[in-house]
Parts: sequence; C-alpha cells; structure tokens
Amino acid sequence: MHKIELLGVTHDRDGFDCGSEPLNLFLKQTARQHAERGISRTFVLVDEATTAPKPIMGFFSLNICQIKSESLTPQEAKKLPLDVAGVRLGRLAVAKAYQRQGIGKTLLVEAMGKFIDIFNSAGGNGLFVDAKDQDAKRYYEQFGFMAMASNELELFLPIKTIQEALVVGVNQ
Ligand SMILES: CC(C)(COP(=O)(O)OP(=O)(O)OC[C@H]1O[C@@H](n2cnc3c(N)ncnc32)[C@H](O)[C@@H]1OP(=O)(O)O)[C@@H](O)C(=O)NCCC(=O)NCCS
Repeated sequence: MHKIELLGVTHDRDGFDCGSEPLNLFLKQTARQHAERGISRTFVLVDEATTAPKPIMGFFSLNICQIKSESLTPQEAKKLPLDVAGVRLGRLAVAKAYQRQGIGKTLLVEAMGKFIDIFNSAGGNGLFVDAKDQDAKRYYEQFGFMAMASNELELFLPIKTIQEALVVGVNQ
C-alpha cells in the first residue's frame, strides 16, 4: 500500500532521483529547511511496508501564495479583488523507477485534497504552479490547469475544477 507522509528524517532523500537535478537537490537540501522555517511543506509518497530509510517514490511541496487577480483569466479576475490568495504547488516529482505509472496523478490529487482542507478553513482561489518547461505544462494541462495571463508557464487550477475533480462540497 502507498502512503503520503510529511517529509521527515525516516525518508531516504539521498536515494531519490527523478531525472531533474534541481528537483533532486530541493528534496535533499532545501525541503526540510523550508518546512522548519514555515516557507513550505513537502509530502512524500512511500510504500507502507518499507522501513527507514524509506525509499521516496515521489514528492510534492506546497506553500501559501498571493497573486494579482489580473494575471488570471478575465472571467476569473472580474469576480475577485486585486490580490487573491491561493496555494502554490512549488515542486512535483516522481522517482525515475516509478514514472509513467500514475504516481504523478496520485500526488496531484493529494495536493488538491490538501488545498481543499485549506480552502475549507481559510478560503483561497486555487492551486498555482510554475511549469518548468512546455512538457511539464502539457502534463499539468491534462488535469485542467490553465495558463495565466501573466506568463504562459504559470498555471492555475481554479477551486471549481478541484471541487469537481474531487467531488467535494464547499460546505463539507
Ligand atoms: C512529470 C512527472 C511528475 C509525471 O509523473 P508520472 O508519474 O511520470 O506521470 P503519470 O503516470 O501521472 O502520467 C500520466 C500521463 O501524463 C502524461 N505525461 C507523463 N509525463 C509527462 C511529461 N513529462 N510531459 C508531458 N506529459 C506527460 C502521459 O500522457 C501520461 O500517461 P501515459 O503514461 O499513459 O502516456 C514525472 O515524470 C517527473 O517527476 N518528471 C521529472 C520532474 C518534472 O518534470 N517535474 C515537473 C515539475 S514542473
């Protein structure tokens, strides 16, 4: 069985390789420091049956963010104040041995669920992500992420799309 855990000392950060060195280095050197300083939180997917140091199959990180509503689509922007809050999916990566097996999708659904927890307590307009290149952009677009007006690699997944995807009611 697979399980999502908050990144901690029992996880094998050094053994993780997703094929992108900046993402590997973030996990190895930065993710725990960011968590300690309240900058972001990183969650890892592990196999429940493994013991420390647990191999990391994939990870994502989240942080609270603020953006200008004018950088959203005009339909979204007209309903909102100038500054809006959301959650940024700062990093998403799957270990090379597990790529193309649906793990990335599993991690995205987990990230959406965590956004819904925040939304239900404090509101927010959606999930934001900076795609690192056109390939990553295409990956996110298949889940409903839309390019923002400000930059075509900055993507936005509106709360409504997330709720529909997870079939979660606003008042739940
Ligand atoms: C991009 C990444 C997170 C995708 O995770 P994954 O578990 O391999 O992908 P999934 O199994 O969820 O993919 C589902 C579908 O997305 C598409 N897809 C997968 N990887 C893709 C990529 N790199 N670019 C575009 N589309 C992709 C495919 O259509 C795939 O279905 P298929 O395998 O049946 O063709 C992973 O490959 C990875 O970590 N890559 C290196 C780091 C990276 O690029 N991260 C993105 C940060 S901006």
